Amino acid sequence: MSSVLHLCLLFAPYICSAQWCYQSQYSCEDKCQGPNQWVRDFPECGGQIQSPVNIVTRKVQYDPSLTAIIFENYTEVMNITVVNIGYAAVFFLPPSMRIRGGGLPDTYKAVQFHLHWGSDCGPGSEHTVDGEQYPMEVHIVHIKQQYNTLSEAMNDPVGVAALGFFFEVSPHENRQFYKVIEALGRIQYNGNSSVMTGFQLTDMLTSLENFSSYYRYEGSLTIPGCNEAIIWTVFQQSIPISQQQLALVTQQMLFSTGKPMIDIFRPVQNLNGRIIYTSMACPCVFSSPVTLVLCLLYIFELV
Ligand SMILES: *[C@@H]1O[C@H](CO)[C@@H](O)[C@H](O)[C@H]1NC(C)=O
Ligand SMILES: *[C@@H]1O[C@H](CO)[C@@H](O)[C@H](O)[C@H]1NC(C)=O
Ligand SMILES: *[C@@H]1O[C@H](CO)[C@@H](O)[C@H](O)[C@H]1NC(C)=O
Ligand SMILES: *[C@@H]1O[C@H](CO)[C@@H](O)[C@H](O)[C@H]1NC(C)=O
Ligand SMILES: [Zn+2]
Repeated sequence: MSSVLHLCLLFAPYICSAQWCYQSQYSCEDKCQGPNQWVRDFPECGGQIQSPVNIVTRKVQYDPSLTAIIFENYTEVMNITVVNIGYAAVFFLPPSMRIRGGGLPDTYKAVQFHLHWGSDCGPGSEHTVDGEQYPMEVHIVHIKQQYNTLSEAMNDPVGVAALGFFFEVSPHENRQFYKVIEALGRIQYNGNSSVMTGFQLTDMLTSLENFSSYYRYEGSLTIPGCNEAIIWTVFQQSIPISQQQLALVTQQMLFSTGKPMIDIFRPVQNLNGRIIYTSMACPCVFSSPVTLVLCLLYIFELV
């Protein structure tokens, strides 16, 4: 057993989380293992169905089985715990929140949500759409209802269902998001935790009624071990947030190394022949008669 691995077992997760880092943490002083090197200690990060990916809307395939996802108990008002785990803020969700339908093979119960962001209101999402990287992305992680923990669900190739929502800068504030910003301010250091009271997930998401348009593909966890056990659902509709709110998100937390927690996203991975499916019969926008015609050609696979 290597000494590193040995330390890992003794001090996990403190030492273990230092074994990999985001590109933003790499420097002359700290030659930590950035995303390109994750595969050295975590072989699955070099697998064939990794996440995130770039969604090329021109190439997505319509799948009529991708009906609207049924969100159960998503409107619950909750007191939830948020923890700084050294490289992210994790908000723990009650298992009474569930999703089903939408082409998912089972009912999945919520475990947690977390955010991926950039710096200075720059790009920060993990998934991209036609090469565009949004400023922030929230991942709501669910496991098949029969499992008790995320690690248990990771052994099942479809054990985890993750929902990805993009944030986009808007002139309008996202009022409920202030609760999240304040909570992040209370967990500046690795290991800090706090309770966020009276939080309603649907308020942060603004509304669930417009989330029937989404992309679907099979992929992985976007941090080491990169387990290939995730059914990804990435919604087309983005969530509004003000520029000021976005700036506050990226300015408050610190990595376990003590440096500002910024640019916490993994770069996009190769599709390796995977098809991304969509719930949208026609992903085009009818902004002009020309796009309408192009869209009809697209549907009938003439172009
Ligand atoms: C929603 O949560 C409540 C408890 O908070 C539970 O009694 C109820 O069964 C849940 N509903 C669903 C559809 O899971
Ligand atoms: C949430 O916390 C508040 C204040 O601590 C408490 O009054 C309330 O009963 C809690 N609500 C739930 C659903 O636990
Ligand atoms: C947050 O973590 C720091 C460093 O471990 C510790 O000194 C501080 O007391 C913690 N704060 C809270 C509110 O737990
Ligand atoms: C949902 O979409 C409809 C039609 O596009 C729009 O009128 C409505 O404002 C949207 N609702 C939200 C909460 O975004
Ligand atoms: Zn994530």
